[in-house]
Amino acid sequence: MSSLLTNGIRRFLVGGEQDFAFAPADDIELSVPDRIHLYIHVPFCRSLCPYCPYNRVLYDETLVARYFSAMMAEIEQYYQRLGPVCIDSVYIGGGTPSTCPRHVGMILEKLNERFTLSGDISIESNPNDITPQLLHSLVSWGVNLLSIGVQSFEEENLRFLERDHTAGILHDKIEMALSSSLETVNLDLMFALPHQGSSALARDLEQAIASQAQQLTTYPLFCFPYTTVGRWRKLQGVQLPPLIKRKKMYHTIHHTLLEAGYDRVSVWGFKKGDGPRYSSVTREHYLGLGAGAASHFPGQMFMNTFSLPEYIHRCNTHRLPVALDMKLSPALSSYYWLYWRLYDTYLPRDTFATMLGQDWKAQGLIKALHLLGMAKSKPDVVELTQRGSFWVHLAQNYFFLHYINRVWSVARKMPFPGRISI
Ligand SMILES: C[S@@+](CC[C@H](N)C(=O)[O-])C[C@H]1O[C@@H](n2cnc3c(N)ncnc32)[C@H](O)[C@@H]1O
Ligand code: SF4
Repeated sequence: MSSLLTNGIRRFLVGGEQDFAFAPADDIELSVPDRIHLYIHVPFCRSLCPYCPYNRVLYDETLVARYFSAMMAEIEQYYQRLGPVCIDSVYIGGGTPSTCPRHVGMILEKLNERFTLSGDISIESNPNDITPQLLHSLVSWGVNLLSIGVQSFEEENLRFLERDHTAGILHDKIEMALSSSLETVNLDLMFALPHQGSSALARDLEQAIASQAQQLTTYPLFCFPYTTVGRWRKLQGVQLPPLIKRKKMYHTIHHTLLEAGYDRVSVWGFKKGDGPRYSSVTREHYLGLGAGAASHFPGQMFMNTFSLPEYIHRCNTHRLPVALDMKLSPALSSYYWLYWRLYDTYLPRDTFATMLGQDWKAQGLIKALHLLGMAKSKPDVVELTQRGSFWVHLAQNYFFLHYINRVWSVARKMPFPGRISI
């Protein structure tokens, strides 16, 4: 039923021209944008968390060396096709990139050799990996934003999430990162965990604020059906907080962090001070390197194979490791842009006018948000209210679980899947 409804809505907004499916791809023709960003996927982790939906494998030294050597070949392939393009930012995610600092340094050096790098370089990390040496190396390679996977300051939550670190190490690790020359340190926190009460959430927020980190990102637990937690939830009937409680938790986060001097920078991100904003997903056109990495170029979206052996094989035989591809109609590209601006919770009026100004459906959507008390107008921007931000955060949940789950669950099983309708 909900599927019928969302399919109806997206057909209405985007029109019949768009085929909502990823098709098998062996190679791709690239339409090169003026500005490009880079995403680098590092799939290695020291332990595999049961809730995690990302493409990740256990750290293995030999595999790590083969993987990064393949990535050097992938960079070379793109250099042949794109030439020495300007790259406006680099985001290194995973998995856990902080498990492989030496190889990350090698990749950044190679990128600097081949392309013109400018702008922010961000990296994800696990608290266990943070040492003065790691921080020193990151800064020397030009990394200026670091995210730490804290998840919770409560021992009980960390045990539920089967994290490989204790709460006891967190404050030292955060302090170490804050006293380095990094410009922004972000902490990832998870909420809406089974059995998490409002006082436990309040304690987590209190500790996060006390840490003085410049940015806090609070994710509700997504239960992807293919993760252990997703399966476990189904089998054991693990109860996640009901909608009303989630709403209360979301408002507590919002209210507490604004009171503490943070500004909202996305549906679940809050930032303090003038440093750059840590953000993984909101760049417009980007090239993804690594197994399972996605890319968004004008009019097209494509994805690498999720399989590490196939990724390595393809790159080493001088082919792109692309497995899936979707052509984007101009209407879908514009709505894709709108989706990410709603995620940012701010819609710049001038860009909205350029991207969707003539589209009466998009205009109607923004009007409806105003009427429902979900958005308010400011001179240069339309801004989501707290209520709007909550509903967009729920829509994000739905989007993740509905569309991303469909593609990732197939791509994890089959290195080169057939057509995947979404
Ligand atoms: C790819 S991880 C990178 C951080 C690092 N690997 C770590 O876990 O310490 C990025 C973030 O995604 C979030 N995350 C992972 N799985 C999630 C899930 N099922 N629901 C909500 N957030 C999730 C966690 O907060 C995690 O820190
Ligand atoms: S949450 Fe982070 S450490 Fe845990 S499996 Fe996922 S990527 Fe690895």
